[in-house]
Amino acid sequence: MYKNTLSIIIIFLPAILAGADEVVTCSDIVPMRTRYDKISITDFGGVGDGKTVNSKAFRAAIYRIKRLRRRGGTLLYIPPGVYLTDRFNLTSRMTLYLASGAVIKATQDTSIWPLADPLPSYGRGREREGGRYMSFILGDGLHDVIITGENGTIDGQGDVWWNLWRRKTLQYTRPHLLEFMHSKNIIISNVIFKNSPFWNIHPVYCSNVVVRFVTILAPVDSPNTDGVDPDSSSNVCIEDMYISNGDDLIAIKSGWDEYGIAFNRPSSNITIRRITGSSKFAGIAIGSEMSGGVENVLAEHINLFNIKFGIHIKTNSGRGGYIRNITISNVYIEKAQKGIKIGGDVGDHPDDKFDPNNLPVVRDITLRSIWGKEIQQPGLVKGIKNAPFINICLSDINLQGSPNKRMQPWNCSDVKGSSLKVSPWPCSELISSHDGSCFTQT
Ligand SMILES: *[C@@H]1O[C@H](CO)[C@@H](O)[C@H](O)[C@H]1NC(C)=O
Ligand SMILES: *[C@@H]1O[C@H](CO)[C@@H](O)[C@H](O)[C@H]1NC(C)=O
Ligand SMILES: *[C@@H]1O[C@H](CO)[C@@H](O)[C@H](O)[C@H]1NC(C)=O
Ligand SMILES: *[C@@H]1O[C@H](CO)[C@@H](O)[C@H](O)[C@H]1NC(C)=O
Ligand SMILES: *[C@@H]1O[C@H](CO)[C@@H](O)[C@H](O)[C@H]1NC(C)=O
Repeated sequence: MYKNTLSIIIIFLPAILAGADEVVTCSDIVPMRTRYDKISITDFGGVGDGKTVNSKAFRAAIYRIKRLRRRGGTLLYIPPGVYLTDRFNLTSRMTLYLASGAVIKATQDTSIWPLADPLPSYGRGREREGGRYMSFILGDGLHDVIITGENGTIDGQGDVWWNLWRRKTLQYTRPHLLEFMHSKNIIISNVIFKNSPFWNIHPVYCSNVVVRFVTILAPVDSPNTDGVDPDSSSNVCIEDMYISNGDDLIAIKSGWDEYGIAFNRPSSNITIRRITGSSKFAGIAIGSEMSGGVENVLAEHINLFNIKFGIHIKTNSGRGGYIRNITISNVYIEKAQKGIKIGGDVGDHPDDKFDPNNLPVVRDITLRSIWGKEIQQPGLVKGIKNAPFINICLSDINLQGSPNKRMQPWNCSDVKGSSLKVSPWPCSELISSHDGSCFTQT
């Protein structure tokens, strides 16, 4: 009896000691692994002098991991130094470990950069027709991959790509810095991503992906350098990030118009927590490509400074799909054009084959505990005439303007919802308190 009680106390002791200070996290969806088989890029001829092109070393090291299939996988160590390399593919059951001061740097010869087929859910490259340039670091059809270390850097040297885009001489869609396709059980943590040619981290058709303690940096005027874009992926955990870039910090997507509708793969079960950042675009975005549907999203504890829109839910006629069961709470916004924007007329189309009568469904959006100052307009909510956005629930929202400057009022159309403790007082469309569906639980 006495012995049993003691063992119960011992079993629960860590939990008792951790108590209420325990940090809430979703990162346990993928267990962190220790790899006992370790190799270094230098064993394969890698030279970190910033000049030697290390493509052969990366390929040989990763091929060795794939071929030997050591029990528990293999860790590939990148020591301090600058390792220039052409793009490369990862393999399953590997850890790419960047030491403090390690930099994996992309070569800049865009003329020999290999091409990949367009994603089926997009039908074409996102910015140019046809194929797309292969991502700098790519994992396709993998499982159990970890990219981590002591905050080493993955540097895309994107300026050559941004200039092609600016001069309108880009032939195909630019490469992502890191992309996983058809993969599961992925961890990306304690790494710095810098100067991506295009979107930084793109998990597409993936499940169980953790992105944590990652810093993403790109100049404020770098085109389309989105931070993390979960795309037709489920069970994604994004936590403890600092992002300063040239487009949305986080954007959840799921394919583009008729191609996304046909492919029919939603993004779901996505948690975004403790994100700080700034950009000329949005903090937390959903869409505008969302044709496979987006649901069950929780974003909380978000701090945004110098941002265009704090929250941006965006879609368009012709997209089809849905955006539903979205909760965004505990957001602080300083200096923004709009605190909240929900728009049904945002984004371009892949071609003229989309059906404008394919209207997206936007419903069950809860925005709670949102504070801001130096905000030009608290909210712009523009639904779609024949598909109004419904059950938009706002509570505990206080968005203030700049001193001595008149704030633009809320502006809404084709939307229905309820508000509780929202200041400034929102548009009449969002105060139909008898709607009832918003605050029934509390
Ligand atoms: C990298 O992976 C892609 C996608 O699976 C494949 O098409 C390509 O041939 C691979 N490249 C190399 C060098 O293995
Ligand atoms: C790496 O950066 C994260 C912040 O993203 C920080 O929490 C962590 O302590 C850093 N780790 C090292 C080893 O410097
Ligand atoms: C989403 O999470 C729920 C509850 O945790 C789970 O039942 C469901 O299978 C998940 N969906 C996907 C697509 O994994
Ligand atoms: C709505 O999404 C949350 C995650 O934010 C999830 O926990 C919940 O189960 C979802 N509700 C439904 C009805 O699927
Ligand atoms: C609301 O925004 C539309 C443009 O989207 C504009 O034409 C209209 O004047 C605005 N209404 C108010 C009351 O500001």
